Order: sequence, then structure tokens, then C-alpha cells
Amino acid sequence: MEKKIFSGVQPTGNLHLGNYLGAIKNFVKLNNEKENSCIFCVVDLHAITTKQDPLELKNNIRETVATFVASGIDSKKSIIFNQSRVTAHSEAAWILSCTARTGWLSRMTQFKEKAGKDKEKASVGLYSYPVLMAADILLYDSTHVPVGDDQKQHLELCRDIALKFNNDFRVDNFFKAPEPLIQKEFSRIMSLKDGKKKMSKSEISDLSRINLTDDPDQIVNKIKKAKTDSLPMPSNKEELENRPEAKNLIGIYSSLGEVKLDEAINEFSGKKFSDFKENLSQVLVDKISPISKEINRLLVEKKFLDEILDDGYEKAHKIASQKIKKIHEIVGF
Ligand code: ADP
Ligand code: TRP
Repeated sequence: MEKKIFSGVQPTGNLHLGNYLGAIKNFVKLNNEKENSCIFCVVDLHAITTKQDPLELKNNIRETVATFVASGIDSKKSIIFNQSRVTAHSEAAWILSCTARTGWLSRMTQFKEKAGKDKEKASVGLYSYPVLMAADILLYDSTHVPVGDDQKQHLELCRDIALKFNNDFRVDNFFKAPEPLIQKEFSRIMSLKDGKKKMSKSEISDLSRINLTDDPDQIVNKIKKAKTDSLPMPSNKEELENRPEAKNLIGIYSSLGEVKLDEAINEFSGKKFSDFKENLSQVLVDKISPISKEINRLLVEKKFLDEILDDGYEKAHKIASQKIKKIHEIVGF
């Protein structure tokens, strides 16, 4: 069966190893499978749910496209576009916000995390963010959505919205409830400074993450400074459970180097962290540096990046405008 893949990444700068291992690496794999049709969206409407500098946003949109291409997504085979240009996304989000229930949204944990202590000051957009995400997915009849573990709840909400809309308007199977595609192991990469916190773009300390634009010296330095505990390297999986930093680092080694977790544990069992860190740095430099070099090369080629977005816009608009037309008819506009 043809898989219709859709995913989005926010152009908020600092794309990092978590984005790569949790999402982008999987995009590349799906892009390379012949039978799939893939759409990768730079979700700039989502980005403005928190304050963005307009000039930086423009650059970050191009940087996200450059990251997709540098990581191995083929812009001829897959559609790469930015969300704000296809206005059907905003329209569908409004209509679906009348299907979604406030009770559903109030359970979203990402809002609680992102809004912080003073929820009254968070934008309305940050609160209704998952409805826009549902619109993104449903406009393209997407069957599979590759994301990191943190987006699982949003996908469940998307399924609920799809089913309720179909039910409310008695349009059986009009919206397709999509399946999440989430890595089984290490679907959540943690901060290098705290193994209990997600690696994130918004963390103030740059030492907490490996950015996809870091050069080899920066990578080596960040791994050297990464938090560990005082025990030697673990010798079995169970031992990892109470050692979040060790678990995260060995997880990164295993996912990035494509070595089974058990093998990775055996390889370093009982050794010093410093020995392991040298090997980890090497894998990171081998895998991330070529991407980072390519991103930096592409960033100068603004015309090339804009052409990818123009081409993606044409293709995405064609699909989305047909679906939104049908939505209007169903709703009674
Ligand atoms: P974020 O602000 O959470 O980085 P993005 O829109 O840039 O938001 O996320 C893009 C993709 O990267 C999503 O699929 C998200 O689940 C994934 N992702 C983000 N951070 C991590 C992480 N630390 N570990 C695994 N996946 C992640
Ligand atoms: N909310 C996602 C994130 O923060 C990004 C996103 C927006 C997305 N629309 C999407 C992901 C549609 C998958 C499908 O990571």
C-alpha cells in the first residue's frame, strides 16, 4: 500500500541531534522508500506561537530547508514547502478548532510545558497549536506521520478530531485517521546537561545540545563536558534505568552509529566514561559533520532554497486546495 507521509518541523533555529534522530533521519529513510509519497513541511505558522524575530524567522525557514536537503531528503521526490504559503492550513485549522473540544486541548502536556508557570500569558495560538497540526496532516489524507515521542499526544488528538468531524457531518472516512511513526528505542534524546530533560532548541545553554551546524571541535567539546555519573560504563540494560545520562549517551551512540543497544553496552561495559566519550565523539563527527558542512554550503544558495519552496508550494497547494474546497461544502459554506 502506498504510504502518504506528512511531517513538520518548526523553523525556530538550532536544529539539533534530537530533531535529527527523533524525526529527520526517519524522514530520509521514508523518502528513500520507493512506494511512499512524502511531504515535509516547514511549519512557520507553528513557529509564531512563541515570539519570533521576523528577519530571523525568514532565515530559519531557509535553514530548515537546507537541513532537510543536507540530511538527504530529495526535493524532487518529496514535497518540501512552508506552511504559511498554503492558506488552506489556516482555514482548515479554524474549521477544525470548532470540532476539537476545549477539554481535549486542556490535556495537552506540551502546552503545559511550553506555557510554563504563567499560563495566562501564553498566546492563544500556543494553546490551539495541536489543531493546526491536525489540519496540516488531514489536508493531505496522510496515512503516516513520523515524529519524535513528544508529539504522540498531538497525533492522538488529530485522530480524535478526524473521527469526530466524520461523525458530526456523517462523512464516513472523509478524514483519514493517521498512524504515528515513532522510533521504538531512543525516540526522545535528552539534554547533555540533564538526562531527565529533553534536548531542546529553547534550552539556554548551548552545551545542552549538539546542533546540526556544530563543527567537529564544538562536538568534541560538548561531549567532553556532557554530564555523566561517577560509576563505570554500565554492563546491562537494566543498569541504564537509574542512570539517565549514561542511558542517553549510549542511546545516541547506538542510534547514530546503528549498533544494537546490547552490542553498544557490551562494547564499553565496565570501561571509563572518557574512553566511551572518545568513541561517541568520533561517531558524532563522522555522521553530523558532513551534514553540517552541507547545510553551511546551501545556506549561501538562497535562490536554490527558495526554488525548492516555490516548487513545493505549487504541489502542496494543488492537493490542499481540493481538500479545503470539499471541507467548505461539507460544512455548508
Ligand atoms: P521542538 O521545538 O520540539 O524541537 P520541532 O518542531 O522542531 O520542535 O520538532 C521537530 C521534530 O523533532 C518533531 O518530530 C519532534 O518530535 C522531534 N524532536 C524534537 N526534540 C526531540 C528530542 N529531544 N528527541 C527526539 N525527537 C525530538
Ligand atoms: N508540532 C510539531 C513539533 O513541534 C511540528 C508539526 C507541525 C508537525 N505540524 C505537524 C509534525 C504535522 C507532524 C505533522 O514538533
